[in-house]
Amino acid sequence: MTAVAAPAHENPLIEGLERLPVHPTVLVIFGGTGDLAHRKLLPALYNLAHEGALPERFELIGIARREQDHSDFRAVARESIERFSRRKPNKDVLEGLLADMRYLPGRFDDDRVYARLKRTLAEFDDKAGQPLNRIFYLSTAPEFFPVIAGELGRTGLNQAERAETRIVIEKPFGYDLASARQLNAQVLEEFDESQVFRIDHYLGKETVQNLLAFRFANALFEPVWNRNFIDYIQITAAEDIGIGGRAGYYERAGALRDLVQNHMMQLLALLTMEPPTAFEANRLRDEKLKVLEAIVPPSTDEVAEMAVRAQYAAGVVGGVRVSGYREEDGVAPDSRTETYAALRLHVSNWRWAGVPFYLRTGKALARKVTEIVVTLKPVPHLALRSTGSVGVQANQIILTLQPDEGATIQLGAKIPGTGMRIRPVNMEFRYGTSFLSESPEAYERLILDAMRGDATLFTRNDEIEALWGIIDPILTAWREDTSSPIPQYPAGTEGPDEAKSLLAPRHRWNRL
Ligand code: BG6
Repeated sequence: MTAVAAPAHENPLIEGLERLPVHPTVLVIFGGTGDLAHRKLLPALYNLAHEGALPERFELIGIARREQDHSDFRAVARESIERFSRRKPNKDVLEGLLADMRYLPGRFDDDRVYARLKRTLAEFDDKAGQPLNRIFYLSTAPEFFPVIAGELGRTGLNQAERAETRIVIEKPFGYDLASARQLNAQVLEEFDESQVFRIDHYLGKETVQNLLAFRFANALFEPVWNRNFIDYIQITAAEDIGIGGRAGYYERAGALRDLVQNHMMQLLALLTMEPPTAFEANRLRDEKLKVLEAIVPPSTDEVAEMAVRAQYAAGVVGGVRVSGYREEDGVAPDSRTETYAALRLHVSNWRWAGVPFYLRTGKALARKVTEIVVTLKPVPHLALRSTGSVGVQANQIILTLQPDEGATIQLGAKIPGTGMRIRPVNMEFRYGTSFLSESPEAYERLILDAMRGDATLFTRNDEIEALWGIIDPILTAWREDTSSPIPQYPAGTEGPDEAKSLLAPRHRWNRL
């Protein structure tokens, strides 16, 4: 297609967008008929088109096993965009995007698919009168990642003359440390690391990037951002939904692989890393790697006292009765897969020694919230006590990533009246009220960055191995323990009581 954007007056975000030119590109989605493509990738592409952020010349090819032709694919793409786009599609923009969309049916290990792909790519280059950059987006089941990377290499599609070739790989990148290493090796046999873009969609969220702005664009916080002032840090990624229809995937994954190894550990890294010298891919990832390497993985014997797993039992979420995990379709009645995981980690470096980091995530909890709570140390001396001061609490800085994006600073304030009674009050910043605009979806940012070749918000090979290295002993200990009961928590609650055992005296989990 040649780009058609929506008229500027319909586009309140346009001012905020960086308008860096993007080289003409063809995006090839392996797994183009899958759930992620429908719910996220195609709607994200529509929104980029709407904003005029796609390159002047942009082509899209979907590849999947289903037998269908180009027009079937376009019809399904139209439906998913109409259903899942964050803004109502503009007819001209949508038609422009769909116009020349292609579909290639076939198995990912079938040479004929790659031969046809080559022909279609050549046709697009001819039409454009120049070689287009190529992005291969692997949005398939993970067992196909090495197959597709291997085929692309074997057929010479891993590079192009006078144009860039990149490969975007969805999560999960590996199943444990050994398989992540193997996958890295397989991919890097065909592609150079600079061509590889491993996705963690959390990094595309505006509020996650705002962590960096918050830390490094304000002189207020950085001086206290260390062991001298911070008592403990808590990261929560709670969801109120259960596993939906994803038993096949989830039974093998579990909460630790699904959310902790990637999204939550990325939050931890951004929160604790040293300031990078520049907001540039390798500078930022060097810093993340350094801090991840400072998290000493537990030995398998230590796991019991630093990690808790649990499963949701039947309960009530938002007024609706839901069944327990073991009763879900496709879940084994004696399943030991965790739907809840809580950990206590330490970052062993000068800045963070002695500060516990508590992480928890779970399905079917009381509400959906992703937040970081930084609790400062208590004041050293309470002179106010003699005058009847009560209610003094340690200051908290609460960064909410979703659903209500913003930051809250909790301060102690005097309750009006004669005595010196104190209670916590909140100073609040809310994204919605300050910027009066809707944040773009994470995938919009990430697809655009991949097209620009900016890997800052993608995970590097050594980083992904460091992430798995921390989680691996916990996975091993849990796998090897086949007999101790898995704690159950009623759906719709705060999670298992056992999670409290991770906390040091005086520390507490914030209420969900
Ligand atoms: C995905 C997990 O990576 O992240 C899902 O596979 C989870 O299980 C989702 O629900 C949460 O993402 P978000 O953006 O809704 O917080």
